[in-house]
Amino acid sequence: MLDEQAKKTILRKIPHGLYVCGVKDGDEVNGFTASWVMQASFQPPLVVNCVNRNSGSHAMIQSSQVFALSFLEASQKELAQKFFKPQRRVGNKFEDVEFYLGETGCPIISDSLGYVECRVVGTVEHGDHTVFVGEVIAAGVHRDGEPLLLESTGWQYGG
Ligand SMILES: Cc1cc2nc3c(=O)[nH]c(=O)nc-3n(C[C@H](O)[C@H](O)[C@H](O)COP(=O)(O)O)c2cc1C
Repeated sequence: MLDEQAKKTILRKIPHGLYVCGVKDGDEVNGFTASWVMQASFQPPLVVNCVNRNSGSHAMIQSSQVFALSFLEASQKELAQKFFKPQRRVGNKFEDVEFYLGETGCPIISDSLGYVECRVVGTVEHGDHTVFVGEVIAAGVHRDGEPLLLESTGWQYGG
């Protein structure tokens, strides 16, 4: 039998970074704070991005088949906080955030450490999050710095 408490405690020990995942659908853009992200292949370069099926961004990735990950700096906790609220509740999350559109048309945060842009090459649908397998088709470094880690924020997303 699954020990629920043990499962939660131990899964929360998986280390994560924090990213803003930029998405688009036609002319509309959005973004959300993502942590369930990791590299999944060297050649071709793949990352996996696990996205809540109920989020607005999920539908946008499904439709456009692209996403961008902006890598946040250790001091950018406030920026991460802005993007973990749903667009349907707070409206345009990019209103007072400087960004530009990448090759995929997805928004990239100008003040982030850098970014990767991905084309979805696989989709794994089992639980409440969809695993989007993205091939990295563009990348850029804006500046040097330490990445923002979930563990440093005191927030939890996991368990
Ligand atoms: C610390 C933290 C990490 C998160 N990581 C993820 C994640 O990896 N995947 C995901 O789908 N949502 C994640 N979320 C939740 C989304 O940011 C949240 O559902 C957001 O409101 C979705 O926005 P949207 O509806 O505008 O797309 C995380 C939230 C927090 C607070």
